[in-house]
Amino acid sequence: MESSRIRQMFFDFFKEKDHRIVPSAPIVNRDDPSLMFTNAGMNQFKDYFLGYAKPEYRRIADTQKCLRVSGKHNDLEEVGVDGYHHTMFEMLGNWSIGDYFKEEAIAWAWELLTDRYGMDKDRMYVTIFEGDPDDNVPLDTEARDIWKKFIPEDRILTFGKKDNFWEMGETGPCGPCSEIHYDLRPDDQRNTIPGADLVNMDDPGLIEIWNLVFIQYNRKANGILEELPEKHIDTGMGFERLAQVLQGKTSNYATDIFQPMIRFISEVSGIEYTFNYQPDAKTDMAMRVVADHIRAVAFTIADGEIPGNSGAGYVIRRILRRAVRYYYSFLGIEEPLMYKLLPMLADQFATTFPELKAQVDFVGKVIQEEERSFLRTLEGGLKKLDGYTQENNVLDGKTAFELYDTYGFPIDLTRLIAREKGWQVDEDGFNTYLQEQKARSRADAQKKVGDWEILMPDVSTSFIGYDELSVTNAHITRMRTVEIKGKDQYQLCLDKTPFYPEGGGQVGDRGTLQVGGEELKVLNTIKELDLIIHIVNKLPQKYKGAVSGKVDVRKRELTENNHSATHLLHAALRQVLGDHVTQKGSLVTDGYLRFDFSHFQKVTDEELAQIESIVNAKIRENVPKVEDRDIAIEKARDAGAMMLFGEKYGDHVRMITFDPQYSVELCGGCHVEATGEIGLFKIVSESAVAAGIRRIEAVTAKAAEDYVSNELKVLDEVRKLLKNPKDPVAQIASLQDEVRELQKKMEAMAGSQAIALKDDLLAKATKSGSVSVLAETLPLGDAKAVKDLIYQMEKELQPAAIVFGFVANEKPQLMIRISEDKAEGDLHAGNIIRESAKLMQGGGGGQPFFATAGGKNPNGVKDAVGKAAELIKNAINDA
Ligand code: SER
Repeated sequence: MESSRIRQMFFDFFKEKDHRIVPSAPIVNRDDPSLMFTNAGMNQFKDYFLGYAKPEYRRIADTQKCLRVSGKHNDLEEVGVDGYHHTMFEMLGNWSIGDYFKEEAIAWAWELLTDRYGMDKDRMYVTIFEGDPDDNVPLDTEARDIWKKFIPEDRILTFGKKDNFWEMGETGPCGPCSEIHYDLRPDDQRNTIPGADLVNMDDPGLIEIWNLVFIQYNRKANGILEELPEKHIDTGMGFERLAQVLQGKTSNYATDIFQPMIRFISEVSGIEYTFNYQPDAKTDMAMRVVADHIRAVAFTIADGEIPGNSGAGYVIRRILRRAVRYYYSFLGIEEPLMYKLLPMLADQFATTFPELKAQVDFVGKVIQEEERSFLRTLEGGLKKLDGYTQENNVLDGKTAFELYDTYGFPIDLTRLIAREKGWQVDEDGFNTYLQEQKARSRADAQKKVGDWEILMPDVSTSFIGYDELSVTNAHITRMRTVEIKGKDQYQLCLDKTPFYPEGGGQVGDRGTLQVGGEELKVLNTIKELDLIIHIVNKLPQKYKGAVSGKVDVRKRELTENNHSATHLLHAALRQVLGDHVTQKGSLVTDGYLRFDFSHFQKVTDEELAQIESIVNAKIRENVPKVEDRDIAIEKARDAGAMMLFGEKYGDHVRMITFDPQYSVELCGGCHVEATGEIGLFKIVSESAVAAGIRRIEAVTAKAAEDYVSNELKVLDEVRKLLKNPKDPVAQIASLQDEVRELQKKMEAMAGSQAIALKDDLLAKATKSGSVSVLAETLPLGDAKAVKDLIYQMEKELQPAAIVFGFVANEKPQLMIRISEDKAEGDLHAGNIIRESAKLMQGGGGGQPFFATAGGKNPNGVKDAVGKAAELIKNAINDA
């Protein structure tokens, strides 16, 4: 059964059971600070489970792009070693939000696996939760009784918290779970060791395929479980594992999901893939690692994250570098390889996750560049490790840090290579160095988040800020204190608010709140999940009554100008540069706007002028804003709305249009009523951010006016200095020509001056042994002329030792030339100059036969020359 059919059957089955099939959420998680990447299908429904938001449908199913390489769930070390762990994988899931519970969840899972997919019932085992007295959760007899209807009791096994209590992270929705495991082993093995003994034992012959979680609790920051008002179902089935079982393979990598990529890698490297999982089968392992890692890297980049040095970007970089090292060391490939797999991967997922195909060139470019840059330092790092002599089989922390800092080896890569050599890594030592570096370059924000004090349970915030900039009669729903770098930050939520929370690139609103006679400053407004959080300068004393609030109107208006201008810019960029331009990042503040977009070369000055002119024409047209606050996503798509990759859209969206032929975008931000308000748009810079990404910064309204008047002021001053010529540009160019001419003339003059000095100087040379010594301060101001002179004099006097001091551009200079055959031992121009230049507050150095030095004190030149002459004579006499 082809994997695409397996996926489709899953959707069809749950459609039959009245589920709504939704798209995968982005793999990069942006609106939940407790989680960098989506690590389970349920992440996008967390708000529903916690009661923060109400779902449109209570029964949902999908396939979700997941990544388990950081935080609570981390499988990275297993990937490539065994056949059933991955960095990125697909999780098929079905959900009940306060609708059906254990009875249906279990019955349907059984029906789908056995009836529809035709899996062998005799090979199935299920597990249930044994209970936990500390958390006050009992043994799950309910699940056991339901399972008894389908499967003999000796195949229902009981496990503890580690295996059968599922939690998304340190905090959040959770509950007991029941897992379905499948025995893949041949009959002879099954007859010798019963499958029940291998469940949850990390045996590749008996693997977990589906986890049914009975979400009932919220784990709070203080560790306590709190009952949720409703009970939910959250199931997750590993798609790649399911394919393995249904295709009768012994590994996920043997399925049609991975084989095309493995075949390609095998062709490129000229090495055969042998389906071998022994630890020394490095070439097989390397192919699995590359085939796996490219998926994680490609889909995270397609969802808008770029490899970088911190946070999610660094996780991607680590994964990519791990793969590069594998193909470099074990497949002998020294050129970028992974990006070549992209077209194949994009086609494979063209209908399931189309975002990759839509940006295949861009993603490829980013990956290729990232591979290339690591390949440049990888060899050096590997050599360093090869030449490393360790004590007690420990790689010391300083070396691990140097590998990290200089060669770009993530610590997990160093750990991996060390392990291959049978060494440990002194990770504490490494961390000490890392911490020191971090402390130097501004410590990472340390955050301690307290629990909410709930004043009004189950009340979500309604945002009224599209229409209103103030509110009366609002109420505080929750408050808390968050400690950041040892400082308290105060947060509170209201039942309704006009304050826009930072999001979609737009900064959060500021303003004031009046609470029980007290005035609070709103320093910023942010969003976490569906909560709008006001960051205030203090928590109020009395907080039960009505609250009123006012947004800082001026700041909001300036921000709106920049946000609407960003939309106009985006459309103009696509018109001028082409449809490959998509947004890769955006910042909209009251001061300026910054827009990052995919494009492969520098935007030329002509293109920039054209873009600016289109935007300004749209501003003069005074195009009115059309806001569709709650439009069906299909309708928005039909209207040609621009949708961003890596963004999570619901069934209903907000659409902002400035001329349906020009700019239609899905956007939750704040905008002008008509484009005329923007006044003026001015690009102030264009630059590169990363491979394939350019950045434009621009200003609008008053800031644009100020920018233009400042530039004009400069021009005005230039004109005045030039005495108001007709064409200042031509005037400057001709002045530059003139300067160049004069320079040439001066050089020539200095040359003839030097020649004129020559006869005098020759007469001043004295003999010290066989060597002619000449030490003089010259009235020349041109280093090149002095250098020519010193070389000529050496030819005439040789063997010779010559010292010239002079002042060029008000800086004292010293030059020493010694005939090559005499320049040895103490008669070393470089060493002598270092000593003598001190007398003119300078330093320098050079070779034994020629050296130069500059200094700060022109009055010291004479002494420096004298000192050099003395050192030279001493050196000759001592020799
Ligand atoms: N959340 C559970 C898991 O990830 C089931 O979807 O295993």
